[in-house]
Amino acid sequence: MADLEQNTEVGQISVIGDKELIKNPEFFINQTLQFQELMMMYDCAIKEVKTKLEVLNAELSVRYKRNPIEFISSRIKKPVSIAKKLQKKGKIISVDSIEETLSDVAGVRVICSFVDDIYEIASMLVRQDDIALVEQKDYINEPKLNGYRSLHLIIEIPVFFSDQKKMMRVEVQIRTIAMDFWASLEHQLRYKHVINNEEEITKELKECADIIAATDVRMLSIRNKIQENTNEEDF
Ligand code: GTP
Ligand code: MG
Repeated sequence: MADLEQNTEVGQISVIGDKELIKNPEFFINQTLQFQELMMMYDCAIKEVKTKLEVLNAELSVRYKRNPIEFISSRIKKPVSIAKKLQKKGKIISVDSIEETLSDVAGVRVICSFVDDIYEIASMLVRQDDIALVEQKDYINEPKLNGYRSLHLIIEIPVFFSDQKKMMRVEVQIRTIAMDFWASLEHQLRYKHVINNEEEITKELKECADIIAATDVRMLSIRNKIQENTNEEDF
């Protein structure tokens, strides 16, 4: 059988017949350990961001006697999704490449009560002097064509490890309960489905998104009316 040699940028892989064998197990083990370490670092970055958000929520809940944040969720991107995204971007699949290329390995989702809470929380977070704002996408003022609404921030946050301080990138998505309701269902409906009447479904989903957005605006106005008509000590 032909013993074809192939040197890729990420290490040596022997191709024997239709099987790819990693020639250097040390290389593989090393990459695995580095990957594990990097994921641990992203996990720590998530903890730091969550703590900052929880502190803001605690402070604001005392001041306003209501919680601007309903709940916070987080996730680390799965290895398969990481590999697929690198491949799609034409990048080599390696641990260094993950850090250089991807901004959404660590993701935090903040669900707020009202639309104005989103901007308040976002500006309070990025104003903190250890946080760097890398990118902001405002899909609330400029919703996506399908109706998706959310405020996306890519931030860098320092994490202190035993021998180094490392700036870690985290994607923070901030939206209202209503925006989250739409995004979750839209994701569920679309995920892995090949839709024949695509145009009609897209139009319906967009209509739902617009109704939901209008309701968000009304809820905010109701809250403001209540606030204006309530004595400070009662509210
Ligand atoms: P990705 O390759 O998806 O990360 O796109 P991007 O790098 O241009 O980022 P963008 O800020 O547009 O979107 C990032 C994330 O926002 C996605 O991974 C989803 O979690 C969410 N998102 C964006 N668009 C939609 C949408 O149309 N529907 C839903 N349900 N979620 C969306
Ligand atoms: Mg992204």
